Amino acid sequence: MNEPILLKGKPVADAILDGVRQEIEKLKAEKGIIPGLSVVLLGDDPASATYVASKERKSKELGLNSQTHRLPAETSQEELLELINNLSNSPAVHGILVQAPLPGHIDYNAITLAIDPRKDVDGFHPVNVGRLVIGLPGPLPCTPAGIVEMLKFYSIATQGKRAVVVGRSMLVGKPLSNLLAQKREGGNAIVTIAHSAAEDLGAITREADILAVAIGRPKFLGPDMVKDGAVVIDVGINRVDDPEAKKGYRVVGDVDFDAVAPKSMAITPVPGGVGVMTIAMLMQNTIASARGDFS
Ligand code: GUN
Repeated sequence: MNEPILLKGKPVADAILDGVRQEIEKLKAEKGIIPGLSVVLLGDDPASATYVASKERKSKELGLNSQTHRLPAETSQEELLELINNLSNSPAVHGILVQAPLPGHIDYNAITLAIDPRKDVDGFHPVNVGRLVIGLPGPLPCTPAGIVEMLKFYSIATQGKRAVVVGRSMLVGKPLSNLLAQKREGGNAIVTIAHSAAEDLGAITREADILAVAIGRPKFLGPDMVKDGAVVIDVGINRVDDPEAKKGYRVVGDVDFDAVAPKSMAITPVPGGVGVMTIAMLMQNTIASARGDFS
C-alpha cells in the first residue's frame, strides 16, 4: 500500500488564471480590448447546463465580455448556423464555444466548420486539429491541454514513458494522445490509444506509466487494469444516483478511485482533478484569441 500524490486541479488552474487576469488588464490598458466569449447551449441537459453556468461565472468574474446563448433543443441547424456566422463576424467576439453534446438532429461537424478557426477556443475546427497534429501553434482543446499543464505543474516526466489513453473522442482522447506524443515539454511519450474494441484492454492499460481514462463510464477502471506506480489521470465526470446526496446524485470518475489510488504513484481525484482545468484553459484560449495569437 502506498500513499499516492493527489493531483489536484485547483493550484494549477489558479496559476493559469493569475496569468489570464494579468493579460486581461494588459489588453484593456494597452489596446482597449475586452476579450469576448460567446457560449452556445442547446436544450436543457442538466450536466451541460452546469458546465455552461460555470463557464459564464468564471468569465464574469474575470471581467470578460461574455454572452451565453441558451436556445431550445428544437433549434434548427440553419438557425444555429446563422447564429454562429453572426458570432464569427462580430468584432466583439473573440471566442465561440458550442457546448457538446448537441441534440441528434444537429450535425456537430457542420457547426464546428462554421466557426471562424481564429475564434475556435475549443480547438475543434479541422484547421486547428490539423495545426495540433503537425505541431503548429493554435488553440488547443481545453481538457487535454489542461491535463498536459497538470503533468508539467506536478513535474510528472512524460519523455520516453508509456502513455495509454483510453477513449478516442474528439474532445479528449484524440487530442490528448496527440499532445502526449508531441516532441516537446509535457510530451515525447510513447502513446497508445485504446478503446472499447480492444480485445484485452487490461493488457494494454497495465503497460502504462501514464494512464488517462476518458470514456464516460463510472468507476470503469479497476486496480487489475493498472500497473503498480502508474500515474492515473481520470477525465470522467459521471453523475450517479445517490439518494443520500443533497442533489440526489454524486459525481464519480471513470476510475474506481478508492481501489486504484493505493496502486498509483499519482492520481487525479474526481471531483477536484482535471475538471477545473477545462475552464482555465478556455479562459486562456479566449485571451490568446483576443490578443490575436490565432490570426
Ligand atoms: N462538453 C464537455 N466538454 C466540452 C468542451 O470542452 N467543449 C465543448 N464545446 N463541449 C463540451
